[in-house]
Amino acid sequence: MPNFKPQTPKIVDPEGVTLGIEPRPMDQTTDTTRADKALETGGEPTVDFMGDTNPYINYQSIDLLLSLQHPRSGAYDEMCFFVMGQVKEILFKGLHFELFNAKARIQEDEIDDALMLLSRSTEFVYLLLKTWDVVGTISAEGFNQFRDYLDQASGQLSFMYRHVEFVLGNKDKQLASAHKNVPHVWPHIKEALEAPSLYDEIIRCLQRQGHKIDEEMLERDWTEPYPANESVEQAWFDIYQDPSTSNRLYQLGEALINLDDAISQYRWRHFVLVSKTIGYKPGTGGSDGVGWLRHTAELRYFPELWSLRTRMG
Ligand code: HEM
Repeated sequence: MPNFKPQTPKIVDPEGVTLGIEPRPMDQTTDTTRADKALETGGEPTVDFMGDTNPYINYQSIDLLLSLQHPRSGAYDEMCFFVMGQVKEILFKGLHFELFNAKARIQEDEIDDALMLLSRSTEFVYLLLKTWDVVGTISAEGFNQFRDYLDQASGQLSFMYRHVEFVLGNKDKQLASAHKNVPHVWPHIKEALEAPSLYDEIIRCLQRQGHKIDEEMLERDWTEPYPANESVEQAWFDIYQDPSTSNRLYQLGEALINLDDAISQYRWRHFVLVSKTIGYKPGTGGSDGVGWLRHTAELRYFPELWSLRTRMG
C-alpha cells in the first residue's frame, strides 16, 4: 500500500484552456505545402506558431483533455484509477464505433467490409483487456484509500459500455433505465436498446444469403435479450461445413467467436481482479459485487457459435 502522498506535477494552467466541445478551427495542409515547409525549416520540426496554441493541441483539444483528471481523495493510487477509467471509456468509444459500422456494412451485405471492422474491434478488446494489467497494480489497501470518494459511481453506469453491450445484443431494459434522468444521454441509449443489434442484423443477412431462419428471429422485440435459436445454430452449422477462406460467412462466424472470446476474457479478468481488490464486499453501484460480475462473465453474445462446437465432429 502506498503510504506516501502523491506529488501532482503541473501540466496545464486551467485558466488558459479553451472550454467547449466544438472542434477548434484549423487549417489544412497538402503534400505540396508540407514539402515547402520542410524546405523552409531545413528538415527540422516546426517550433514557431501564431497565437496562444498549436495545431496538435487544437486537433484533439489536448489541453482540455489533459485538464479532466482530478482525483478527489489525495490517495496515491487514485490517479492511476482515474486515468485508466478515462482511457477505457475512450477505448469503449472506439470499439463501439467499429461495431456500429460493422452493423451498417452487414445491413448492406458488405461482409468483407464488416470482417475488416470486426478484426479491428477484436484488437480494441485486447487493448481493453491489457488495461486490467495496469488497474491490477492497485492493491486492496490502495483501493480502499479512495473507494469512499466514488460515492455510487460504478462502471455499471458507463453509458459507453452500455452502448457496446447493446450493439452486440446484450439488451437490458433495467440497466438502460439507469440513464433515463440524463437528457443528453438517454435518447441514444433508448434508441440503441430498441434497435436490432449487430448479431440480429447478421442473422437477417444469413437469411438473405439463403439460410432458413425462423420468422421470429427476423422481426422481434429488440429490447429483449437475445434468445438462442435452433434455426440460427443450424444455419451456422451448414456454413461451417465449408471452413474455407473463400467462405465469407464462415470467416464471419470465426470473426464473431474470436470477438466473443476476447470480450469473455475481458469480463473474466475484471471479475477476478475485483475479487482480489474488494473480496466479497458489495459494489459501489448497488450490486453484490463479485456475485454480479461472475454472472456477467458467463454471458456469450453469439450463443449458437458456441453451442455449434458440440455438434462438430
Ligand atoms: C479495482 C478497480 C475496480 C473494482 C474494484 C471494480 C468493481 C466493480 C464491481 C463490484 C462491479 C459490479 C457493479 C457494482 O458496482 O455494483 C463493477 C462493474 C463494472 N465495472 Fe468495475 N471495478 C473496477 C475497475 C473498473 C474500471 C477501471 C472500469 C472501467 C471503466 C470498470 C468498469 C466496469 C463496468 C463496465 C462494469 C459493469 C459490468 C457489467 O455490467 O457487465 N471497472 N465493477
